[in-house]
Amino acid sequence: MKGIFISFEGPDGAGKTSVLKAVNQALSEQLGEDQVLLTREPGGDRIAEQIRDVLFDDQNTNMDPRTEALLFAAARRQHVVEDIEPALRAGKVVLSDRYVDSSVAYQGGGRHLGIDDIWELNEFAIHDLLPELTVYLDVPSEVGLKRIAQHRSDQVNRLDREKLAFHRRVRQAFLTLAKRHPHRIVVVDADVDLATVIQEVKQLIHSRFPSLLA
Ligand SMILES: Nc1ncnc2c1ncn2[C@@H]1O[C@H](COP(=O)(O)OP(=O)(O)OP(=O)(O)O)[C@@H](O)[C@H]1O
Ligand SMILES: [Mg+2]
Repeated sequence: MKGIFISFEGPDGAGKTSVLKAVNQALSEQLGEDQVLLTREPGGDRIAEQIRDVLFDDQNTNMDPRTEALLFAAARRQHVVEDIEPALRAGKVVLSDRYVDSSVAYQGGGRHLGIDDIWELNEFAIHDLLPELTVYLDVPSEVGLKRIAQHRSDQVNRLDREKLAFHRRVRQAFLTLAKRHPHRIVVVDADVDLATVIQEVKQLIHSRFPSLLA
């Protein structure tokens, strides 16, 4: 495939969506809007968005953790087939707000299902489609949760409401993944002001893909 696939990961409130907005804008200015696909997980095409609604439905308080893991993987599969792969075949830069590492961190770490089991489940779903670069925005759990409470308290979902211990396990699992995949996953300190994080991420993308953001 000709395109470039970059995923953005990190705990809640790390700044993924904020940083992606800036990166998407810069890349769209350079390459043209139709050469960049900004997408998010879980979500994408219609089927994946329907699965997203089930996952984040506040009434689904009795969802089994394995059901949750399977639904995330199912949504991801559909997203890969209907959105990501066609864009990569067309030579686009694909920017995904979360991807496979979030499942491993939230369901594997947060929900105690195990990093290895959730990785295997997702290998089935992604069928070898890993990003060339994963930007992992790292913040202490308290910092991310505080940002959300301060700025986005109207948009808090079922997973955001988990206890602090859950969010700490999520972060530890992300850091474990970063150690296991040191070439693909680059850790960026996101506990600094947003402009600095954006600058770091742009430099990182340019250093990995010299034709981008030149
Ligand atoms: N580096 C930063 N310093 C201070 N505030 C920030 C920083 N990055 C983002 N924020 C603010 O924190 C809030 C959460 O940021 P954002 O929505 O980008 O995080 P996210 O990683 O996408 O979170 P989620 O996982 O919940 O989608 C926003 O109000 C944003 O303006
Ligand atoms: Mg976000």
